[in-house]
Amino acid sequence: MTLRGERALCQADVILYDSLIDNQLLEGRSARKVYVGKRCGRHSMSQSEITSLLVKYALAGQCVVRLKGGDPSVFGRVGEEALALSELGIAFDIVPGVSSAIAAPMLAGIPVTHRGVADSFVTVTAHKRSEDEPLGIPAYRSETTLVLLMPLSTIGRWQPRLLELGYPEDLPLAFISEGCSERQKVVVSTVGKSLEDCEDPGVVSPCLVVVGGVVRLRERLIQKYSKRDSFQDAEWGVGPGGFGLGSSR
Ligand SMILES: C[S@@+](CC[C@H](N)C(=O)[O-])C[C@H]1O[C@@H](n2cnc3c(N)ncnc32)[C@H](O)[C@@H]1O
Repeated sequence: MTLRGERALCQADVILYDSLIDNQLLEGRSARKVYVGKRCGRHSMSQSEITSLLVKYALAGQCVVRLKGGDPSVFGRVGEEALALSELGIAFDIVPGVSSAIAAPMLAGIPVTHRGVADSFVTVTAHKRSEDEPLGIPAYRSETTLVLLMPLSTIGRWQPRLLELGYPEDLPLAFISEGCSERQKVVVSTVGKSLEDCEDPGVVSPCLVVVGGVVRLRERLIQKYSKRDSFQDAEWGVGPGGFGLGSSR
C-alpha cells in the first residue's frame, strides 16, 4: 500500500473492495466495507452493478474508495469505472499501486529485468473469455521476461503456445502463488515441464507465472541472502519501493 493509498483509506466513508487485497488493510477502519470481488470466475457482483454502487454512494455525498489489488490499471478495470464517473461529472482520483506482476516475482527473488539477462518484460493475461480469443503472448526473445497473470485455468492453452512461439523447452519458469504474503509459494519449473509441475500442491490461486532467464537469479539471490523462501521475512530484504539491510537481533 502506498502512502497515497493509505491516506485515501483514512478519508473513506465507504470502501468497495476486491478479493485480492490484504484484509489487514480493512482492519480498524470505521468506513462501511462492501465486498465486490470475484474469484475464479465467481462474481459477487457484475461489473455494471459495481459501477452503479460507486455512483450511488458518490451521489449520496460519500467519499468512496474502490480498493483493488496491485495496480488498478493492470487488468483491474479502472478505466471502465473511472469513465462512468467522468461521464456523470463525479470527481475522482486514481491512486497507482504496486502490481503483483512486479512485486510477487521480486519477493520471490526474481527481478523482472536484470542487466545482461533481461532488458524488458511483458505482462500478459492468460485469461480469455472464449477459446477462440487469441492469447497475447509475444514471440520468444531471450532478453524479454514474460509475466503471465491469471494462468491457472488456461495452462493447457498457453504452454503449447509458448513452444509454438519458440520458447525453449528448458527455459526456466516459476509459478508464484499467494505472492507478497507469508503464504507465498514458489514452484520453479521449465517451459517443457510446466504442464506437469502445475499439479504441485504449491501452485494455488492467486498465482502468476514468470518465464525467462531471470528465474535463474532466484537461486543465487535467495540462497545467498535469505534462509527463508521469501524476502519479506528475511533479515535482508527487498520489497516494493524499498531495498534494505535489517537485523532481527
Ligand atoms: C485480475 S488480475 C489483477 C492484477 C492486479 N491489478 C495487480 O496489479 O496485481 C488478477 C491476477 O493477478 C495475479 N495476482 C494478484 N495478486 C497475486 C498474488 N498475491 N500472488 C500471485 N499472483 C497474484 C494473479 O495472476 C491473479 O489471477
